[in-house]
Amino acid sequence: MAEWLDEALFYEVYPQSFCDSNADGIGDFKGLMGKLDYILSLGCNAIWMNPCFDSPFIDAGYDIRDYYRVAARYGTNEDLKELFKAVHEKGMHMILDLVPGHTSDECEWFKQSKKHERNKYTDRYVWSDDIWEGFESVSGVTGAIRGGTERPGTCATNFFNCQPALNYGFARKDPDKKWQQGVDEDGPRATVKEIEKVMDFWLSMGCDGFRVDMAHSLVKNDDGHLATIKLWQEMSGYLKERHPDAVMVSEWGEPEKALKAGFDMDFLLHFGPSHYLELFREDKPYFSAKGEGDISEFFELYVRNLKLTKDQGGLICIPSGNHDMRRMAKYLTDDEIKIAFMFLLTMPGVPFIYYGDELGMRYVEGLSSVEGGYERTGSRSPMAFDATANAGFSSAPEECLYIRQDESKSYINVETEEADPDSILNNVKELIGFRREHPALSNRADFSLVYCKKNEYPVVYGRSCDDEALLLIFNPAGRNEKLSDEVKELIKDKTVIFSMGDELSADTVPGKSAHVIMIK
Ligand code: NOJ
Ligand code: CA
Repeated sequence: MAEWLDEALFYEVYPQSFCDSNADGIGDFKGLMGKLDYILSLGCNAIWMNPCFDSPFIDAGYDIRDYYRVAARYGTNEDLKELFKAVHEKGMHMILDLVPGHTSDECEWFKQSKKHERNKYTDRYVWSDDIWEGFESVSGVTGAIRGGTERPGTCATNFFNCQPALNYGFARKDPDKKWQQGVDEDGPRATVKEIEKVMDFWLSMGCDGFRVDMAHSLVKNDDGHLATIKLWQEMSGYLKERHPDAVMVSEWGEPEKALKAGFDMDFLLHFGPSHYLELFREDKPYFSAKGEGDISEFFELYVRNLKLTKDQGGLICIPSGNHDMRRMAKYLTDDEIKIAFMFLLTMPGVPFIYYGDELGMRYVEGLSSVEGGYERTGSRSPMAFDATANAGFSSAPEECLYIRQDESKSYINVETEEADPDSILNNVKELIGFRREHPALSNRADFSLVYCKKNEYPVVYGRSCDDEALLLIFNPAGRNEKLSDEVKELIKDKTVIFSMGDELSADTVPGKSAHVIMIK
């Protein structure tokens, strides 16, 4: 069991856009290495880095060409090893992105798999046996690669057209379609073994685990994901046996399934049933002062998931954002973001902060797509460190940057925010410090929902452990709200130990405020 997760607080780094050490306009390992102290200064002690492997970058590196080699633009395998070492020397951990569902169509495995003659890779991907036979009736497939191959068949894709689906077999097979292989057949088994080898390779080099891309997507025609869950139980079991301290966090969005599958934690995401988007995004975010949001459906499912996953450790991760969703600053003002962070950093589970969110970095509108980013490109602009050229991200000429720097709010950067006591950055640091001081706020401490009604503010929850019990009251709406009798009773004669916004009174919570009350 990876105990380091009890204290972990993650920072997500999109390597392209974080820090460029050699002035080629794109971030790299050495750049990140030079910023570890910054990440530590926030209070974060773990890093998730998006894919850094050899790739044609049609999907920003989620289209891997070689699973055993890093992309030259970030450095060498040796440089990454050095980075792991530097991370560990600072008492931090670092996980990589594992992409088990698909490769790039330039991957050698796929090239071999396209050949007419049978070979080791013939069954590495999901292929039909007829050039006109597609996957319309198959679930878990996004499209098809048809034509341009020696092999007289069609290959399933898992995301973009350049991402052929690796073959883990079919849970439900159509008896008339012999090309649909069972999960126990040789092709799917060899895929599993290869991905285990990939995990071993990087873990042995010093990586501390993986964020697993589209973890739900492996087995096709898998109703209820039962076969995929079984497969992950096997793969996570293999991993834990060899690397007991390694962790795996899934991009799944359904903690009950993911934790049963053996993941240490699962993300709530912009897709799936979690209602995550209703917190900080969409047209009526709960954390907006407009006060038109609803958090009740989010919490209904959250509480259910916490109960269901309790036996497995129940770590549900609520990220501030990620490289796939529009930044929260598109929807919330600076003050609203601060209250949103107070929520994120007082909830159970392992918090994940997407680089730049701690500054309130904007979603940059109107950018043309870079490396398959499309609407996601605006959330991937370079990190802003200071007021020097390109905001300290890179000393390359401006026109060479991977994505252009946000111009409209260029005063936002680490240096200016560090100097401003009211900045989002200092607020985030303070909140992380506060979380760390209070055992009741730690990742695995208990959670109870105290007051949460449909379309209503405030929302009130408790956090507790053996020695401490705290009550948290949030009223992000721009109007005062009365407290319920139950909450009034709970806070009577108790001390408010942390507040944002105006003071709490015995029966009213002011608009745009949030409070922590010491109960025990
Ligand atoms: C999810 C990743 O987060 C996203 O960036 C990527 O495009 C798809 N999976 C495909 O790998
Ligand atoms: Ca560089």
